[in-house]
Amino acid sequence: MSAPIIRPLAQMRGLIRRWKAHGETIGVVPTMGALHEGHLSLVRAARERCDRVIVTLFVNPRQFNSPEDFAKYPRTEIADAELLGPLAVDALFVPEGAEVYPPDHATTVSVTGVTEPLEGAHRPGHFDGVATVVTLLFNMTQPDAAFFGEKDWQQLQLVRRLVSDLKLPLEIVPCPCVRAGDGLALSSRNQRLSVAARAQAAALPQSLFGAAARIEAGEAPAPLLAEAEAALAGAGFGPVEYLALRDGESLGDPQSGRPARLLVAAWLDGVRLIDNVAVTLPG
Ligand code: PAF
Repeated sequence: MSAPIIRPLAQMRGLIRRWKAHGETIGVVPTMGALHEGHLSLVRAARERCDRVIVTLFVNPRQFNSPEDFAKYPRTEIADAELLGPLAVDALFVPEGAEVYPPDHATTVSVTGVTEPLEGAHRPGHFDGVATVVTLLFNMTQPDAAFFGEKDWQQLQLVRRLVSDLKLPLEIVPCPCVRAGDGLALSSRNQRLSVAARAQAAALPQSLFGAAARIEAGEAPAPLLAEAEAALAGAGFGPVEYLALRDGESLGDPQSGRPARLLVAAWLDGVRLIDNVAVTLPG
């Protein structure tokens, strides 16, 4: 059995009112569809913690950097609903574009600071699109908790900042990145890699984890990261947009005594891949 698909906001709100009247808690998993095991792990986490689980499926035009990329994004709604069926999802909420962004829609949510480096520098406007749609999805689904993958680390920090700054009454639950057997972080974009490129892609997590271990062992980050970038280029990646050691929360310069993160974005076979790993800086 597939998960029940709900499209009109009024119908979604009717269900939410009923659930809340019974004192039930609601967990939401925001997605753009093309679901894989990474998404399912978020749904399982939501299922464990909340009485009702809503998965949202909306391919948000405002977070794409080009209309071609938006058009190319995989749309697999029927398969997504089937995948969610066995997980006892209460609603797959698939709002219409015109209901999310009616023609007179004039509000953008913009988070500064944490959104500016890395993805923000390489994908202008992307995080405004994410912040706006996440705020809309929270308002449409009124959850007690929302589940986000650590794979999109910078997005997760944006959402935490947004919820804290706007005093939104919900908890953000981070969930670990799910990896394939060779270490590649699961992503809907992986499907676009050729068979040969998919085999080469394992070099990305290998470089990342290798560099993190050497930083933790006390090597100076700058030359090591330059070496790791060169190794990625040698493995067929290009361009490497960034491979950077940052503070885990602010994404500014890393501070000793605080959790750090090593983050990467690199192209392979015309596909942009991102990944990140925690780093404990030597004291
Ligand atoms: O991570 C994603 O899939 C998207 O950025 C999100 C959070 C669903 C907003 O469109």
